[in-house]
Amino acid sequence: MTTHQKNNDRAVFATKFAAIATTVGSAIGLGNIWRFPYEAGIHGGGAFMICYLAFVFIIGVPVLCAEFCMGRQTRSNITGAYNKLAPGSKWHLAGYIGILASVLILSFYSVVAGWTIEYCVSSMFGSLDFSDRETGHEQFMQLTTGWRPVVWTVVFLLCNFYILMRGVTKGIERASYILMPLLFILLVAFCINSFTLPGFTEGITFLFSPDFSKIDASVLLGALGQAFFSLSLGLGCMTTYASYFNNNSRLGKTAVMTATLDSLVAILAGVIIFPAVFSFGLSPEAGPTLVFEVLPFIFNQLPGGVVWSTLFFLLLFLASLTSTISMSEISITFFCEEKRMSRKKATIVSSLIALFGGLLCALSFGPLSNFTIFGHTFFSLFDYLSSNICLPLGGMICSLFVGWVVDKRVIRNQFTNGGKEKFPFLRMLVFCLRWVCPTAIFLIFLNSIGILTL
Ligand code: PFF
Repeated sequence: MTTHQKNNDRAVFATKFAAIATTVGSAIGLGNIWRFPYEAGIHGGGAFMICYLAFVFIIGVPVLCAEFCMGRQTRSNITGAYNKLAPGSKWHLAGYIGILASVLILSFYSVVAGWTIEYCVSSMFGSLDFSDRETGHEQFMQLTTGWRPVVWTVVFLLCNFYILMRGVTKGIERASYILMPLLFILLVAFCINSFTLPGFTEGITFLFSPDFSKIDASVLLGALGQAFFSLSLGLGCMTTYASYFNNNSRLGKTAVMTATLDSLVAILAGVIIFPAVFSFGLSPEAGPTLVFEVLPFIFNQLPGGVVWSTLFFLLLFLASLTSTISMSEISITFFCEEKRMSRKKATIVSSLIALFGGLLCALSFGPLSNFTIFGHTFFSLFDYLSSNICLPLGGMICSLFVGWVVDKRVIRNQFTNGGKEKFPFLRMLVFCLRWVCPTAIFLIFLNSIGILTL
């Protein structure tokens, strides 16, 4: 972990900027560029987008604040944070939901990150051909079915493992100060290119004009899951990262900034993908394969497309790494601090678990494609269980915990940095944590299992 300054034998980020950069690095990744467009595509576009943005700011930001507060106050891993704030209680069990979710997410995330490496390598060698729809689809199938994704998943997990083992997270973070803005600039450039596409108006209308009649239980749950997934929320990732924040970091500001930048990147991805979907006659409902089938079409019609596409997939791969490092950190700090393992052993154990899950997910597109549980392959089951169940549940418990159990003076202290800063939103935050967030999440859960119809 980034060690700039020692504080109770634990690493602490040297600057406020490092805190923001690492949380944004964790938040921005495949969730924005791969998952958001496909979820919006299957859930009707505009209707999904509205719910997603509402959940990010009404539920996501307060829960993010709660996680930050727990992390910096206790300077602990997720279960340790609950234990320190409510010793002897059962609250820490919520931490296990987070650890489970982190393993599930790392498993399927590595498969998609593996696709990005494969696309990067294939475009570098000029072997990506997306001249028409059939070729595009066939190519995707060739690249992602059978045993090939297994290889790329393992390659990705090895990169993740190498970085965690060598403790070169610092290098990656430094690199991400440059690479993240570069990714952002590239996205803006592609966005501008979208204006020139024949399907621009149709794509933008699909994404931005909500048809409220489309809002149903699955849209609400999907948007809630996406908000949590995208903000790396509900599983203790942000608690773990906040445990490394220094005492000058402004928690409220960091939360709002993370949420704003994160949603902005998701919206940019939508503006890139949907006009292209309609221009090239593809279906917005393609699911997890959507972005990988659409993007190469865009690169194909750009001058110097090979360079654009190689650069884009390279940056996406690096953005995925900053996210998987943060996910891995949840179980590694848990094993180190609660199970007294060395950091090296903890990294090996959590990487082996992720490798096992990753293999199951990678094979879901090939040899295990017919093996389903409740109609889901391992890949989609891990995604559904973690994003739609574990994360909102973890977020609800965290919200109730900080709202009702944690001493209000602790919260005030954290948000005002011991009285040094002003934080006029304290009452509103506590109100949201006590009532708004848990009730909204609970109602969405009830609605999704059909007990309550909205
Ligand atoms: N927020 C990341 C993304 O949008 O790609 C995914 C993620 C990272 C989820 C870290 C959970 C996590 F703990």
